[in-house]
Amino acid sequence: MHGQWSSRLVFILAVAGSAVGLGNIWKFPYVAGQNGGGAFVLVYLLCVFGVGLPIMIAEILLGRRGRRNPLSTMRILGREESGSTRWQWVGLMGMVCGFLILSFYSVIAGWTLHYFLLAVGDSFAGADADQIGQLFDGLVGSVSSQALWHSVFMAVTTLVVARGLKGGLEQAVRIMVPALVAIMLGLLVYSITSGDFARGVTFLFRPDFSALTANGVLAALGQAFFSLSVGMGAVMAYGAYLPQQESIVQTSFAVVSADTAVALLAGLVIFPIVFANGLDPAEGAGLVFQTLPLALDQMPGGTVVGAMFFLLLAFAGLTSSISLMEPVVAWLIEARDMSRAGAGVLCGTAVWLLGFLTLLSFNVAADWKFLRGTWFDNIDYLTSNILLPAGGFCITVFAGWVMSRESSAEEIGFSSGWVYTVWRMLARYVAPIAVLLVFLNAIGVFADGSP
Ligand code: PFF
Repeated sequence: MHGQWSSRLVFILAVAGSAVGLGNIWKFPYVAGQNGGGAFVLVYLLCVFGVGLPIMIAEILLGRRGRRNPLSTMRILGREESGSTRWQWVGLMGMVCGFLILSFYSVIAGWTLHYFLLAVGDSFAGADADQIGQLFDGLVGSVSSQALWHSVFMAVTTLVVARGLKGGLEQAVRIMVPALVAIMLGLLVYSITSGDFARGVTFLFRPDFSALTANGVLAALGQAFFSLSVGMGAVMAYGAYLPQQESIVQTSFAVVSADTAVALLAGLVIFPIVFANGLDPAEGAGLVFQTLPLALDQMPGGTVVGAMFFLLLAFAGLTSSISLMEPVVAWLIEARDMSRAGAGVLCGTAVWLLGFLTLLSFNVAADWKFLRGTWFDNIDYLTSNILLPAGGFCITVFAGWVMSRESSAEEIGFSSGWVYTVWRMLARYVAPIAVLLVFLNAIGVFADGSP
């Protein structure tokens, strides 16, 4: 029914392409900044390796065993392993979650396209922090610019998804990640030589637990899920195309390590610039867009580097956005008998429309606040901090407790040896308990009276 990845490297690249995206470069630094730095980063790393990694392994193994879209995979495996088809709800929740994430992801990816043009037009030249800030405010204040770039990004995403596995996804992921990393290493040299590197490193790596709240811990967990693309079936959908003989554990470990390295690299590039220019690390969603142009302005060849950087960031966003759409599209094809093109266009159009709510929440609807803040704040909180961890919880419980040892061992390729044992321990105990504790903590169960 499906194509398969033409090689192991391509599969790794595809999952890495899904993981590495705006989450690493746009979101990680600003969420870390808002939550005080070091202690957040430490909790984030624990969540990545103790919770995210075993769940990624679980997701890929379920995907490859079910060999269908996440909803059907969960239904079939649920019936096989426990006699209940109710597990399909996990697949459904994941599809909805991907849909919601993509609706704001595309708007932010649109910002990077706009910044690509700004860089090409040399707009950062000679600008100080205030002027760079005004460029950003000008963009988010403009409905038409954001609408234009959001539309362009969604159109390209839809096109790539509609062309399918071989035609679209593979080609899109081959060179992007390495090229992006190369440019970031160049930016790192700038941060080391011209930024306040020592202060940046201290901020990022010296844990100050007084700066970390219960909600900050939940944010770290949510960010780990978001950054690794786990908890909603994106990686499960990709696992369905993985040939039987490939190692799931090795692939997952490679992807998780690469993803974490890119996020930390982004932090190392951005915070020294923040401190050298007297900016606020807790600035919020505009952080990357208000810091990097300052560096680019002063760097030799900054115009070219900047243009390439923002373009590559948009590409990194694209290889993630296609994975956000893949679960729904695969389901429309398999369960609703649609063509790939039709499914892509239907889903792309719906996400595009929903994206306008995010886009407006930065300008005309900026004062429309409820629960956590604007529409964007809410949709971001709901997806990263609630739906992804909840989905990941169900997935790891299914793989660790519902699925028989024989089935998971068969998929992972071995049942003896420490690798399997460690995975199973993490999947059965550490990951679900950690998610549960972080949730309870965030709703104040352990708060002993303090707010
Ligand atoms: N991991 C992507 C990023 O860091 O930008 C975002 C993402 C993609 C989240 C796919 C979830 C997902 F299923």
